[in-house]
Amino acid sequence: MTQFDDHELTAEVIHSFQATPDPRLKFILGEVVTSLHDLVRRTNLTFEEWERAIDFLTRTGQTCTPLRQEFILLSDVLGVSMLVDAVNHREREGATETTVLGPFYVGEHRLTPHGSDISQGIAGEPMFVRSRVTDLSGEPLAGAEIDVWHADDDGFYDSQKQSYETQGPSLRARFKTDADGRFSFRTILPCSYPIPTDGPVGELIAATKRHPMRPAHVHFLVKAQGFEPLVTHVFIEGDEYLGSDAVFGVKDELIAKVERRDEPVMPDGVPASGPWHLMAYEFQMRPGTGIVPQPMMAAAE
Ligand SMILES: [Fe+2]
Repeated sequence: MTQFDDHELTAEVIHSFQATPDPRLKFILGEVVTSLHDLVRRTNLTFEEWERAIDFLTRTGQTCTPLRQEFILLSDVLGVSMLVDAVNHREREGATETTVLGPFYVGEHRLTPHGSDISQGIAGEPMFVRSRVTDLSGEPLAGAEIDVWHADDDGFYDSQKQSYETQGPSLRARFKTDADGRFSFRTILPCSYPIPTDGPVGELIAATKRHPMRPAHVHFLVKAQGFEPLVTHVFIEGDEYLGSDAVFGVKDELIAKVERRDEPVMPDGVPASGPWHLMAYEFQMRPGTGIVPQPMMAAAE
């Protein structure tokens, strides 16, 4: 056949994948074509709109660098990242809830001793994070690895700053749980922050009158032998953006009460220089396997 009506065209394109050896690839390509063709038919997409979409996606790709992933950000603000998370984590069985990886994970961090200050002198209100990793029955998991990363007091990740190239990472670290499944570290209280708005995703946010803010949080990626890798955040109770996260990543169970404390020593017995905050949160891991997310960028540690 050399000439097609709308629906014959869709069927013909799907048929063109007939010889694809990988059955999953063949299935997904067919679904992509079906959805895209339906979209064009339902919207009577104009040439101008099609060109604008091509231009938008082109610029989204061109905005990506070794330290910036605009496509993940686009996936995040469209809710696709959370939907992929949802369909892959339907059964939690009491395990800690998952959420988006986000665009600022740059790969495994440097292994760091318990109690370390990962803020490296960056200004902010001191915070002590006390945590534990267990299985679903509450048994501690020794030797679990936890990557931690969060934004600074101004709402920026180290990888967004020019100083990253010369000074290396800050507000990032990796810890290994002790025999009782515990780990702890010092840092600063993170604040709510805007997703990057100086690229195509920012244009989308502005054109739709959405705000770009994410509620304050700390990212955790927990890995333990024999358990599903856990990608999650711990959010800070009371943040004004908890109900309208720009990337739809908040889950109630992930909101922690972060208390302001005045005791002269922190939980590990080290003196505090003034008031500090305590984030106490435990992670429950689900048995199984899974792919540990890898950053889609060529960043250094
Ligand atoms: Fe974040």
